[in-house]
Amino acid sequence: MLELNLFFHSVWLSIAIAVTDIPPPQSIAVIGAGIGGSAAAHFLRQQFGGDVRIDVYESEEVGGRLATASIDGQDYEVGATAIHPLNLYMKGFAQMLGLKELQLPNEVQAVYDGEEFVFEDSDWFIVNAIKLVWRYGFDYLRVKMWVERYLHRFMRIYQFQSGGYCFTTVERLLHAVGGDGLAQMTRHSIDEALQNVGIGQRFLNEMITPVLRLSSGQSVNINAFVGMISLLRADSDLWTVGGGNKLVCSGLLYAAKVNLIKGTVTSIHSKRRPQRNGEFVHLYEVNYTEGSVAGHNTYDLVILATALHPGKSPIRFHDPAQPISVHSSRYQEKVVTLVAGCLNASYFGQKHSEPFRPTAIATTAHAGSLILAASVAVPVTAEPDRQPPSCARVWRLLSPEPLAAAEVSRLVASPQAVREARWLAHPRYSPSDEASPFILHRHLYHLNAVEWAASTMEMMAISAKNTALLAHHRWYWQLEKVDQDTVAHGQKVEL
Ligand SMILES: Cc1cc2nc3c(=O)[nH]c(=O)nc-3n(C[C@H](O)[C@H](O)[C@H](O)COP(=O)(O)OP(=O)(O)OC[C@H]3O[C@@H](n4cnc5c(N)ncnc54)[C@H](O)[C@@H]3O)c2cc1C
Ligand SMILES: *[C@@H]1O[C@H](CO)[C@@H](O)[C@H](O)[C@H]1NC(C)=O
Ligand SMILES: *[C@@H]1O[C@H](CO)[C@@H](O)[C@H](O)[C@H]1NC(C)=O
Repeated sequence: MLELNLFFHSVWLSIAIAVTDIPPPQSIAVIGAGIGGSAAAHFLRQQFGGDVRIDVYESEEVGGRLATASIDGQDYEVGATAIHPLNLYMKGFAQMLGLKELQLPNEVQAVYDGEEFVFEDSDWFIVNAIKLVWRYGFDYLRVKMWVERYLHRFMRIYQFQSGGYCFTTVERLLHAVGGDGLAQMTRHSIDEALQNVGIGQRFLNEMITPVLRLSSGQSVNINAFVGMISLLRADSDLWTVGGGNKLVCSGLLYAAKVNLIKGTVTSIHSKRRPQRNGEFVHLYEVNYTEGSVAGHNTYDLVILATALHPGKSPIRFHDPAQPISVHSSRYQEKVVTLVAGCLNASYFGQKHSEPFRPTAIATTAHAGSLILAASVAVPVTAEPDRQPPSCARVWRLLSPEPLAAAEVSRLVASPQAVREARWLAHPRYSPSDEASPFILHRHLYHLNAVEWAASTMEMMAISAKNTALLAHHRWYWQLEKVDQDTVAHGQKVEL
């Protein structure tokens, strides 16, 4: 990797001397119209101006892992739902596009351990505080402080990016904004990190694990960075986009004036084309299929804005001169099932005589793997109903595998309507040293390399901005804002 970088550098320096006036790129391809690709189109338009042609390829629906399904004429999120109040890009996109921020109602949370609720929220804040301290000591506060400390460091990314700074790997990005402490987080587990700050096993099992199962479907052995990001899901003031989160994607694509091509990209070839002056231009040929029709276009720059799954109809990369090495990772399967009906209280160890209050149930590792979580789904169209109505509502069940009809009706008595969405949700996280590069080849970038550290809507937007800056600076040989690490160089980058 280092050798490759040095190689690029020396080749570039020699070209940089020869070429002083670099013409702008004429065309850019973005592959994938999820939040990553859509945000990339937006930031690329900002960086490269109005003249460059931007083609966005999408084989399925605009939005990708942001999607809704309809029950009784109401739409509900079946992919990504919650946005944190400190997710500044998502907030900015919603504002720019005139979309509404819909506050998610405060949930009545409960934690189920396979037999009963080991924790259940009270309506009274003070009662909750006493319960938490009684059961877990001050672990709750300690975890909150731990999350805030690292979140605060990570948020410096916005300053770096508004100053035009960008990074060639996720690891360098984390190191520049938060030093060793933040960069190290991807290398050890959240279990280790929290035990180091003195968090007890009971709190890890009954509070941390359930939140992680809910957000990543995994346990406390995920890396501490994604763990920290996941714990933000337990914060209040979360919101969702009125009309559905996917409207951000279609809105960004429209505002960036892209050409949307409904097709599946099958291969990307690096080509050298001789010019009249004897020099070569480098281009990428993108081949795609649109139904039974095959097409191809050439581009100066290509942004890959999709996860690369091993074995799953891969995109082929080819350069006769230099191999393009592509890192694919294993993804965690997750199924979201929407069910209208009353949750079976006795499944959760509750007696029928008691009123069933929880609106969000997380589970401990002992709860088995039928479901990871169950929560009341909020329609994307209306302000959520804050009154606890009758037991019948739309529940969102999260499970590692599809639920059989019998399993659904064991959880929700006489289910009215059922909608299912199956996802390859995010990488199987584990602490690891491998740093995924954003640069796959000369002017070919992989936005989703960031998912290896953590995968959320905001992380993809941050990666989109990083990729647009990287593509711009490398195109024009302005390398002074690439991989500047304030911490490593001991100098202050002007922000
Ligand atoms: C169930 C679930 C719940 C989640 N909850 C949250 C949450 O509450 N908050 C949060 O912030 N995040 C959440 N996430 C994570 C979030 O959804 C992802 O981080 C984010 O949507 C990833 O966006 P993306 O654009 O990178 O990828 P995707 O959305 O996967 O977009 C990639 C697009 O590329 C297209 N594509 C792939 N290959 C090709 C090809 N060869 N040619 C053309 N097109 C192609 C695909 O069809 C797809 O539309 C959740 C995810 C899941 C699955
Ligand atoms: C890409 O498309 C061009 C033109 O249709 C074709 O000549 C070429 O063989 C295709 N490449 C691949 C790898 O399919
Ligand atoms: C509700 O759950 C209990 C306990 O798991 C189970 O015995 C019962 O059959 C379930 N009810 C229905 C309607 O399936």
